[in-house]
Amino acid sequence: MKDVLIYEQITLHFVFTGAHNKQFIKKKIEALCQTVKNFLQINYVCQAVYFIMNLYEKMSLSLTKLRNDRMLRTIAGKAQNGAEIEIDGRKLVNLSSNDYLGFAQDKELQAEFLSSLPEDAARFSSSGSPLLTGAHPAYARALATIEELSGRRALFFNTGFGANSGIIAALCDGDTLVLADKLSHASIIDGMGAGRGKALRFAHNSLPHLRQLLNRYAADFKYVLLITEAVFSMDGDKAPLRELVALKKDYPNLYLYVDEAHSFALYGEKGLGLCSLEQIFSDVDFILCTCGKGLGSQGAFVLCNETARDYLINTVRPLIFSTAMPPCAFAHIDFMLRKMVNGESRRQRLQKISGAVRSCLEECGADNLSDSQIIPLLTFDNERAVQAFDFFRERGFYAMPIRHPTVPRGKARLRLSLTASLSDQQVCHLCEVIRQFLRKAS
Ligand SMILES: Cc1ncc(COP(=O)(O)O)c(C=O)c1O
Repeated sequence: MKDVLIYEQITLHFVFTGAHNKQFIKKKIEALCQTVKNFLQINYVCQAVYFIMNLYEKMSLSLTKLRNDRMLRTIAGKAQNGAEIEIDGRKLVNLSSNDYLGFAQDKELQAEFLSSLPEDAARFSSSGSPLLTGAHPAYARALATIEELSGRRALFFNTGFGANSGIIAALCDGDTLVLADKLSHASIIDGMGAGRGKALRFAHNSLPHLRQLLNRYAADFKYVLLITEAVFSMDGDKAPLRELVALKKDYPNLYLYVDEAHSFALYGEKGLGLCSLEQIFSDVDFILCTCGKGLGSQGAFVLCNETARDYLINTVRPLIFSTAMPPCAFAHIDFMLRKMVNGESRRQRLQKISGAVRSCLEECGADNLSDSQIIPLLTFDNERAVQAFDFFRERGFYAMPIRHPTVPRGKARLRLSLTASLSDQQVCHLCEVIRQFLRKAS
């Protein structure tokens, strides 16, 4: 007799990781068993054993996967001092900070702020939403400062994330088409998702694609909200702001929203950002500025006109339903706004350093996407980005590897984020390490 395989019983184990109900799982298993029977051409009973993971088992499985892929995010206290950061007891040059002008780490500024803090602002809780008890005198003073500097109306938020997600959701009703750059920050994407309008993304900085979408859809909507970042947080390149403003002529129902998170305090005569430098400041309907990056403080505000400001006060949920920042935080924003105006030498220093590092990349023949202080060193591959992180850390630099899914697949990189407080020596050493890394890679 020839070899005969007899299957009396087959046990299949399934692990369902999604949020499925039992009915769904039973049906799926029956279908899978049938497929197996058909495939093996047998008639024996196919028995399925399954269990549904509880929530903690599901979370644990997901964490294990992230750990194995070296993608696990953690929060660990890290001391910072000037341009340095302490990791595991070792001092490294910090290339992961958004303190672009070195304001946040400036000890003299900190001392000056504390010694000049008005008595009514030395309070550490606002005790309510700005619509209730949260708008203290320090709030009003910071508001007056930014409105005077910008000539626009302003509205504060606790974070840039809450500002973007809340404002965009409030503006996106069913009459609105929202068009955002493909590389827009998560807070913009969340706002689009929460709104009721039609939300589309155009290819990064692509005016032809944007025009194509506008020609196809703009006439079907009463309003079009066009959203971009001024300097992009991952590629470090700039949006074609003047061209975007020019679109308003062809599409009268178009309104422009520019996120200056990575450019506020860095550009323009007074530091008001890229829209100011490009002299289109009053043509942009909404300018979102964050205070926790170039300004060296905390929170965010939007610049717009009075009608828009009043509308947002009445519609933005993260503003209405959240406790305002404390008076001391507004006093600090106010203090830093005044320092920002006179921060030209820091702005120039940052430009100079950034230019030197970008030139180094170009001289090495590496792709340079950047036109700013955010400089991605492309490694393309996720694993190579982690190797680059280790390579730079061993040589005294702390720069974060950015991988898919944060950036598109095949575009992994080490994100070099420069600050004006880096010394010439640190910049020279950085360029040398970049050269070594690229030589090793080729
Ligand atoms: C482009 C952009 N917008 C908004 C935010 C959020 O700002 P915040 O850190 O104040 O919440 C970020 C944060 O990194 C950002 O990169």
